[in-house]
Amino acid sequence: MPPVDAPAGWSLARRDAFREFHRASFGGLDGPTRTLMYAIVSGGEVVGMVRMTRRDEPGTVETGMWLGRSARGRGLGAAALRELLHAAAAAGMRTVVADTTPDNAGAISVLRKCGAELHEEGGKLLARMCLDSALPTH
Ligand SMILES: CC(C)(COP(=O)(O)OP(=O)(O)OC[C@H]1O[C@@H](n2cnc3c(N)ncnc32)[C@H](O)[C@@H]1OP(=O)(O)O)[C@@H](O)C(=O)NCCC(=O)NCCS
Repeated sequence: MPPVDAPAGWSLARRDAFREFHRASFGGLDGPTRTLMYAIVSGGEVVGMVRMTRRDEPGTVETGMWLGRSARGRGLGAAALRELLHAAAAAGMRTVVADTTPDNAGAISVLRKCGAELHEEGGKLLARMCLDSALPTH
């Protein structure tokens, strides 16, 4: 989510901004943010979020995700992205794109595991996942 101009840590202002950021997308793909968000649940707790946002190109959505720090490094990111790719295909999408920074090793690893084609452009790493072929299972 965008940076919040408020005291560090889980200050009230940051909690409010965090809730607002996620509630703004309750309208889903056809709502004002054109974004469908899913909670990532592990052990009965919400540990993160994965989203798809409709792009102008037909059949294309952009994805993004976060996991709480204590939930990282356990393979949940790739599992969540795989589920998102299935949900995007079920919603009639053909392509899922993402962008990250070349130093985000966790994100790059997750994208690779999900079969993304990656290329660098203007200091960003752009990923493209095609839903026409079968998804990798590992
Ligand atoms: C990017 C992110 C979703 C990856 O999910 P994840 O479940 O941690 O991914 P994995 O468990 O598959 O680990 C990815 C790699 O990071 C390594 N890793 C190890 N410990 C880690 C830790 N504490 N935090 C993050 N990554 C770690 C893993 O070893 C793995 O490397 P490998 O594939 O070579 O084994 C997660 O780290 C995250 O939420 N980061 C902050 C938000 C963000 O960057 N989102 C993506 C923006 S495009």
